[in-house]
Amino acid sequence: MVLRVILVGVPGVGKTTVVQGVVSGYPGAKLVTFGSLMFEAARSLRWVKDRDEMRKMPVEKQKRLQRMAATRVARMKGEAILLDTHLFIRTPEGFWPGLPFEVVRAMKPTHLVLVIATPEEIAKRRMADPTRARDEVTVEGLREELDIARSFLTVSSTLTGAPMLIVRNEQGKAEEVSKSLIRMLEQAAK
Ligand code: AP5
Repeated sequence: MVLRVILVGVPGVGKTTVVQGVVSGYPGAKLVTFGSLMFEAARSLRWVKDRDEMRKMPVEKQKRLQRMAATRVARMKGEAILLDTHLFIRTPEGFWPGLPFEVVRAMKPTHLVLVIATPEEIAKRRMADPTRARDEVTVEGLREELDIARSFLTVSSTLTGAPMLIVRNEQGKAEEVSKSLIRMLEQAAK
């Protein structure tokens, strides 16, 4: 069976760390970072120099990048494609869906995985990462983002018929989360 897993989570929750652990422990798994595909397109159009600038662009421009990235993903072949992306983007125009109808349908996911952590853990992880221009957000703001993420996840699951799994990435336990996802993939591939 071909697996197409969409992994999502608010920025800084640790989804990239978790998905990298899955890729290194699951033979045949291929990691695709949706934000990197969008950034490649944005750079070639000379729209931005840094990936963190993308979410500040007018939403209409971001939609163009999103469609370009989704077209590339839809054409990808492989035994297990793990797609690292977002359920929504915090833009100056409001929360904008990362997986609108046409995008999520084009990707044909078999599974949807939401990585969560406590707002306090996420805030600490964001602040500890000097390599990124993270948005400043309060613990209350993060709590709101986590609630919104669950709503968007439910919609994506309903639109695609893919099961949704919510995994908690506790402090210092990213490897355990990766292992639990590898077990899920092994079960699904049977
Ligand atoms: P993207 O590249 O996905 O960046 P991001 O959202 O900032 O996510 P990160 O990968 O940086 O954070 P993460 O949650 O994966 O955390 P990490 O593993 O690094 O997206 C870039 C941009 O692309 C977006 O802003 C948006 O503009 C655009 N985009 C993407 N998808 C889109 C879509 N569908 N539609 C429209 N636009 C889209 O971990 C963070 C830190 O925590 C690390 O230091 C790590 O070591 C640490 N850590 C992780 N887990 C643990 C743990 N268990 N215990 C202790 N520390 C931990």
